[in-house]
Amino acid sequence: MIYEDLKGKTVLVTGSSSGIGAATAALFSRQGCFVGVHYFKTKAGAERTLTQVKANAEGVLLCADMRDKEQVHQMVTQVAERAGGIDILVNNAGSLIERQPFESATLDYHEDMYATNVRSVFFATQSALPYLKKSRGNIVNIGSVAGHNGGGEGSGLYAAAKAAVATETMAMAKEFAKYGIRVNSVLPGFIETRFHQRFSSAERRKKVADETPLGRNGTAEDVANAVLFLASDAASFITGDYIAVNGGLYMRA
Ligand SMILES: NC(=O)c1ccc[n+]([C@@H]2O[C@H](COP(=O)([O-])OP(=O)(O)OC[C@H]3O[C@@H](n4cnc5c(N)ncnc54)[C@H](OP(=O)(O)O)[C@@H]3O)[C@@H](O)[C@H]2O)c1
Repeated sequence: MIYEDLKGKTVLVTGSSSGIGAATAALFSRQGCFVGVHYFKTKAGAERTLTQVKANAEGVLLCADMRDKEQVHQMVTQVAERAGGIDILVNNAGSLIERQPFESATLDYHEDMYATNVRSVFFATQSALPYLKKSRGNIVNIGSVAGHNGGGEGSGLYAAAKAAVATETMAMAKEFAKYGIRVNSVLPGFIETRFHQRFSSAERRKKVADETPLGRNGTAEDVANAVLFLASDAASFITGDYIAVNGGLYMRA
């Protein structure tokens, strides 16, 4: 166990059927947290995550399309009723969907991009807020380095959506501070999950690893460790801020 204060807390990790969300759910369970394991299409992945969670603590399987307000609300209510509240919300579910450059991107793609990556955060946060107010809990949003540098080829709309999440993180941190709720984000760089298996070639993945000062691409666990820190009391005076997890690939003054 790393953070004693997390023991007994209830955490909802959206998109925990795969990658960063799955690793985050598993790591929270190792602190003794009750974990809401959420999926949309990858039920088998979520079941694997729940098995990992249950090796350490309690958890529940939840299904929702994060683009749908009612489904998200039901999911949040389900975990809160089952665990008696919510202490930590990790807004992780998101996707590049596919690569489409601005020049030829369709309206449907634009709509889906913002629904998947921005609307999802809004819905989950609004539904979880009454519980977080009671627990004086906190929120960790998973943004992206793309939101700060414009992203790579064909990911401009994704980058713009993640920039919205970055701004929301600051705005929510201001609005919710009066409730004792902290809001921060983690900005992954190039992390080896299904995401890049789908959207980046093996050559590109190797090239990025070679260009990264720490000499490798990130793992889902690298990101999960930063999420846990922000969710814990070790970060009790940090809000509206972010941690970049990118091996030194993108540095800012
Ligand atoms: N990997 C990277 O290099 C990287 C870099 C920067 C930011 N990120 C961000 O990190 C987060 C996790 O990505 P990952 O790398 O772990 O990718 P991943 O392995 O593909 O996992 C994505 C997760 O999001 C869920 N999801 C996607 N669309 C959804 C929808 N409409 N409704 C509900 N759930 C949905 C997926 O659920 P199902 O599979 O069950 O449908 C899955 O659990 C995302 O927000 C991503 O944008 C990743």
